[in-house]
Amino acid sequence: MSYDLVIIGSGPGGYSAAVRAGQYGLKTAIVEKDPKLGGTCLHVGCIPTKALLHSADVWDYFVHGEDEGVECQNPKLNYPKVVARKGSIVSKHAKGIEFLMKKNKVEVIAGYGKLAGPGKVEVTAADGGKKVLETKKIVIATGSEARMIPGLNADPEFILTNIEILNLQSVPKSLGIIGAGAVGCEFASIFRRFGSEVTILEMLPRLVAVEDEDVSKELERNFKKIGIRVECGAKAENIERTGTGVKLQATLSSGKVETLQFDKLLIAVGRKPNTEKIGAEGTRIELDRGFIKVNQNQETAEPGVYAIGDVVAGTPQLAHVATAEGMVAIAHIAGKPVSPIKRNRIPGATYTAPGIGSVGLTEAQAKAQGFAVKVGKFPFSANSKASIVGHHEGFVKIVSDQKFGEILGVHIIGHHAYELIAEAVAAMEAEATVETMMNTIHAHPTQYEALGEAFNAVHGLAINA
Ligand code: NAI
Repeated sequence: MSYDLVIIGSGPGGYSAAVRAGQYGLKTAIVEKDPKLGGTCLHVGCIPTKALLHSADVWDYFVHGEDEGVECQNPKLNYPKVVARKGSIVSKHAKGIEFLMKKNKVEVIAGYGKLAGPGKVEVTAADGGKKVLETKKIVIATGSEARMIPGLNADPEFILTNIEILNLQSVPKSLGIIGAGAVGCEFASIFRRFGSEVTILEMLPRLVAVEDEDVSKELERNFKKIGIRVECGAKAENIERTGTGVKLQATLSSGKVETLQFDKLLIAVGRKPNTEKIGAEGTRIELDRGFIKVNQNQETAEPGVYAIGDVVAGTPQLAHVATAEGMVAIAHIAGKPVSPIKRNRIPGATYTAPGIGSVGLTEAQAKAQGFAVKVGKFPFSANSKASIVGHHEGFVKIVSDQKFGEILGVHIIGHHAYELIAEAVAAMEAEATVETMMNTIHAHPTQYEALGEAFNAVHGLAINA
């Protein structure tokens, strides 16, 4: 069988690329090793975690509803049902992807795909049977997997990654988390609100270190307020299973060494690209610590082979980046105009409590790049809709260049911040200036009014603060 295009991996990068290829009339096959289409994002990442977070939000409302005048006697958490609901959302969307493949005439081929010489992809089925697909172009979209601390292995009961933790059938009494990136902080937000005693051990001096420093500080303040123990600048060693849980030694930033015990321990120290067994050896593909180097068309150094998503060097490991890179690759393959990924226009959306939405440069990055930085900040405590929904925490922070009023970055922490960031991304994409956004009318009462206020605050002209 020969194709115009074979895509290896059906995560948000691979399946979206397959749909676009189908729309452009390319004869396309997608190879997937797992039983269902959708990859990490759908099965063990974005979708199930956000389903759990939603349930945690609902539970939070029940437990703290008296502040809103809604009293609920003895609310009961049926955690297995929470997990089942998450599962049904995942299944629904996996079926949706199957439908999309049919609709766009993409052939789904089950098995493990790897490069097998120019224009060839070898697929090994679950029963060991092999076949070789002939194709004009190949897109590698094989994603990533959780990195482990050397010497440790995950198990379903005690030492967990993002995968095992999703299948717990009860809320752990205590949960230790190593690593305070998006994974660690999102699970801390979920399980603390479901009632676990949560301790985060992070080796860097702050939570969510990719975000603006003010955002990290605000998250830490809020985490501590809801009873999460936050230990930044900490080192975890001698991690061992005790039979009923996990024990470790933590060297805290003060230098004090503490022995800590948890029912469960989540390891959330980053993800490594799935490039070890894709047949890259013997090709011209260049790797950088396992990540594939690509040009602005997502082409690798091997002719006809493209890479998108978590395997790519130099772009953040985010589902929407994978999708966007897929669009670039397919446009190039189909001979359509290509709009390469703009690094400074990639939104971040972290589903913590409070949430985080960000785009562009942090204040520190903008200063380091030599911009004459002017910051505007507006707190949600002065936003009427935030009061109405009972979430005063957080702020909007604009990082701009004094010279031309260019918007360099926008950082939001607060209720549903990951939705609010949309305005900032669109503004930056349209090259709007701070002045344009000051003159943009924001509906009242809304949380996104805080963006309008923050743009005005760049010039000291916010009305409500
Ligand atoms: P990460 O790389 O974002 O964060 C890992 C954290 O672990 C870092 O702060 C690092 O300093 C810390 N760390 C590493 N080794 C450690 C050790 N031995 N002891 C203590 N701390 C240690 O990785 P994470 O959170 O696992 O996420 C993986 C990828 O998935 C990231 O690119 C992330 O952005 C993405 N992701 C995005 C989400 C979102 O956008 N909402 C949700 C979940 C993941």
